[in-house]
Amino acid sequence: MKRIFIIVVTLLTAVSVVSAQTAKTVIIPRPMEVKAAKGAYTVTAKTIVGVATAELVRPAELFADYVAKDLGAVLDVKEGDKGGILLSLDTSLGKEEYTLDIASKGVKIVGGTPQAVFYGLQSLRQLVSAGEVTKKGIKLEGVSIKDKPLIGHRGAMLDVGRYFFTVAEVKRFIDIAAIHKINIFHWHLTEDQGWRVEIKKYPNLTKIGSKRKETIIGRNSVSKTYDGTPHGGYYTQAEIKDIVKYAAERYIEVVPEIDMPGHMVAALASYPHLGCRDEKFEVRTRWGISKDVLCVGKETSFEFIEGVLSEIISLFPSKYIHIGGDECPRLRWSECPHCQKRIQDEGLKDENELQSYFMHRIEKFLAQHDRRIIGWDEIIKGGINKSATIMLWNDRNRSKVTSLGNDVILTPKYYCYMDYYQTTRPFSNKEGLLFRDNRILTLRKAYSLDPYEGLQPSEYGRIKGVQANLWTEYVPTFHRAQEKLLPRLAATAEAAWTIGAKDFDDFARRLSHLRKLYDKEGIHYATYFFDGVDELAE
Ligand code: ACM
Ligand code: ZN
Repeated sequence: MKRIFIIVVTLLTAVSVVSAQTAKTVIIPRPMEVKAAKGAYTVTAKTIVGVATAELVRPAELFADYVAKDLGAVLDVKEGDKGGILLSLDTSLGKEEYTLDIASKGVKIVGGTPQAVFYGLQSLRQLVSAGEVTKKGIKLEGVSIKDKPLIGHRGAMLDVGRYFFTVAEVKRFIDIAAIHKINIFHWHLTEDQGWRVEIKKYPNLTKIGSKRKETIIGRNSVSKTYDGTPHGGYYTQAEIKDIVKYAAERYIEVVPEIDMPGHMVAALASYPHLGCRDEKFEVRTRWGISKDVLCVGKETSFEFIEGVLSEIISLFPSKYIHIGGDECPRLRWSECPHCQKRIQDEGLKDENELQSYFMHRIEKFLAQHDRRIIGWDEIIKGGINKSATIMLWNDRNRSKVTSLGNDVILTPKYYCYMDYYQTTRPFSNKEGLLFRDNRILTLRKAYSLDPYEGLQPSEYGRIKGVQANLWTEYVPTFHRAQEKLLPRLAATAEAAWTIGAKDFDDFARRLSHLRKLYDKEGIHYATYFFDGVDELAE
């Protein structure tokens, strides 16, 4: 009898251990604290989502849509304190901090702001997706979660310059970002190969600059063949506003990037006087860095940029405007009488200082409109203001950049560039072409990003952001974009969100649940990691 009792107790303990683990073994990014609690609650098609204030109606409605497939119905959202799922605010919690409690009475989410409640709902969405399906509905084990993010700017960048993605696709990108508690959509809107944002003052930017006549086929470094097929597209200002609103409803801020003074061939093709030489330009049809850049000697170039940025400011409410600054060769400036005169007149040492002069002027213009700049890490050459935020992409510059004391957003390419191969050789050969040949970023490597590596605790505050970047030279379709982004975005999101020690194996187990959510949502992702072929020896 005693033995039977022990066996029963052991079994019960085993069962409760399994239930205690449920929430812990599901949510990505991993919450700060997850504790098992007594009881369980079954969410059904009839469960009401009760919201304490009108501000929470929209996040609740989004949640109701998210779990409609799981429950076979869109849950009713009602203002008041009645419902199996109750949402409320508590201003003693931080802006992005929430608690999520599941007990036999129901589910309670309390957040510092509606944004924080939305993050609680994203966690709940994952729990519902992974919950036990019963005849009544979906059974959720008791749990008590306390959660808030490590990093304030958790970004995802999409390059729409190399290939245009439709409004619906951009919204889908935002939906995917929201699942991962990303709060910044960095929209790389202009490139040598295409200008994608309507600027009313400069209609040629979209009339001419948004189209290229064809696109290179094969490796950029060697190929001389082109597909002969025009490619183009741009977003009207109405579409931009619609996307900004769509993102804001998901608590994602859109930070636009107008890349300058390099990566501007599409603008030069539209308005040739913007170049250093009196010549015509074509929207670029191959990848890589162009020697043709904005002439920063002529005053008309400043007028142009300010005209563009004035409209950008009216379209995007973000505090930050990304003004590029990367990969700008100095050759044209070194041969241009206007640029050389500017160097002389301003007492600048060289072309590096000329770029800084340009960046400072644009920064000043934006500051007059109460906006701040973000620039790629090349902007440190020639000097920057303390007010500039540096987006670090060259890993080798990491300690140099973080030692400056400026705000930093980390996007080190060997951890955060989602265009890189996600498999080691020989499997990478199956992944298609890549602009930066032979660069590999496995899921494990993306996960291993430590935002504070090499820093003293007193310096941690400089790291304002962590971001995944999707460059699209060889990403012509949104299907491919998703396969590039996922599942690695989940790893970057956890590096940005999760407070405390990380554990890749634990992450990988949780990812098996998130994968099912991707499946349910019709989101594509690469399966190399799941198939166990991403880290085969070379
Ligand atoms: C970059 O990858 N050129 C920022
Ligand atoms: Zn010039």
